[in-house]
Amino acid sequence: MGNAQRSRNTNTAMAPSRAVYTTARAALRCSLPSSSPCLHHRRLISAYGYEQAKVLALSSLGEPKDVLHLHSHSIAPPHSDLLTLRFLASPINPADINQIQGVYPTRLAFGTSLGTTEPIAVGGNEGVAEVIAKGGGVQGLEKGDWVIMKNQGFGTWRTHAQTKAEEVVVVKGEDREGLRPEQVGTVSVNPMTAWRMLRDFVSLKEGEWFVQNAANSGVGRAAIQLGKLLGYKSLNIVRKRDGGMEELKADLTSLGADAVVTDEEFEAKDFRDRVKELTDGGREPIRLGLNCVGGPLVGSMAKHLAAGAHMVTYGAMSKKPVKLPTGLLIFKDIHFDGFWVSKWSEANPREKETCIKEVLKLTREGKFKDVPMSPVTWNHDTKQDELVSAVQGTLEGFRSGKGIFVFGNT
Ligand SMILES: NC(=O)c1ccc[n+]([C@@H]2O[C@H](COP(=O)([O-])OP(=O)(O)OC[C@H]3O[C@@H](n4cnc5c(N)ncnc54)[C@H](OP(=O)(O)O)[C@@H]3O)[C@@H](O)[C@H]2O)c1
Repeated sequence: MGNAQRSRNTNTAMAPSRAVYTTARAALRCSLPSSSPCLHHRRLISAYGYEQAKVLALSSLGEPKDVLHLHSHSIAPPHSDLLTLRFLASPINPADINQIQGVYPTRLAFGTSLGTTEPIAVGGNEGVAEVIAKGGGVQGLEKGDWVIMKNQGFGTWRTHAQTKAEEVVVVKGEDREGLRPEQVGTVSVNPMTAWRMLRDFVSLKEGEWFVQNAANSGVGRAAIQLGKLLGYKSLNIVRKRDGGMEELKADLTSLGADAVVTDEEFEAKDFRDRVKELTDGGREPIRLGLNCVGGPLVGSMAKHLAAGAHMVTYGAMSKKPVKLPTGLLIFKDIHFDGFWVSKWSEANPREKETCIKEVLKLTREGKFKDVPMSPVTWNHDTKQDELVSAVQGTLEGFRSGKGIFVFGNT
């Protein structure tokens, strides 16, 4: 079936003061623990109380532009432990695209429960939604509460959904006070990943360093800020670009980066001298590396690590394999680890909740800045092409902001 048939239904921040860092650091050490914008909208609801919903779906794996289509369906009023949700904001993360392409370990769940003859799956894994109705058996959640998804695979590129209350984490009251949906809808993947990688592999002491590539990514920006709050110093590598290099360096510095260099500068022969200078002749060791990119750069990063340090890989944006000088393993005992937030979140649901609340608190207090975003407004009458091209562009490099669906009049 062709797409046409299927779709018939078819900041820049100022650097926080030292006092701010110190207070926040103390709060962070104890293991992380409304007046939100009023979102008026006209509900599209049938005479029998059915919500009219739209989803960005696929029936086979492939490039987003070839396989994604809009599908409409209706949602019955909820009963027992069910909730009806209206989405507010859903980001478009690189992993969502990999999932659609079929190259991600978590597979999409295809089924016919949304009224199709052939199985479809809904794209997107992260987002925030508002509870608009609840079944009689739901406790601890009220209409108007915001929720985020407990696990991967929810399918968040949709205007509405119906789900069991146990599938969501509630963000209510003071936890969401003063926050925009875009901030709450992007808290559960990137900041969490940065947080865990900074904490779980090495116990850095205040004043010690970590080095990271793709420092301008969502995870990278979170690592700079959370690292700074914990008292760590960061050496940040970004890809050289034709324009806007100085602005990008200034932007990351304003988040708390101690040094920002291009990949070219980092690979230069005399960079060792710069590292010596930065680390007070090695007295402030670099004991952690965060790798989002892969390729030869990782070997170069590893050469600057102190003996016994850890290099944690969490992304593979260049799609190039990591090559390592074996001497680093034998003589310097450098450890190479991987981190996957989905697996961590499944195993640690309570810690995930605490971590989310803590990052939201820091955001509310102005100590944690969200990433630059390129919002795509999704109204009831938004055309399929507009939504699909926003998804397709996500894996292109040198982007000015993370794509995010922001739901308007749905
Ligand atoms: N393992 C986990 O648990 C976990 C959790 C979250 C994210 N991730 C992964 O982390 C990565 C970043 O995610 P994000 O949401 O932070 O992404 P993002 O905000 O969209 O940023 C993408 C980053 O990748 C860089 N990049 C893009 N194409 C590249 C290429 N060909 N070579 C080198 N760098 C390239 C970009 O740099 P330019 O500006 O120079 O293009 C940018 O820094 C993704 O691979 C994602 O899957 C993993």
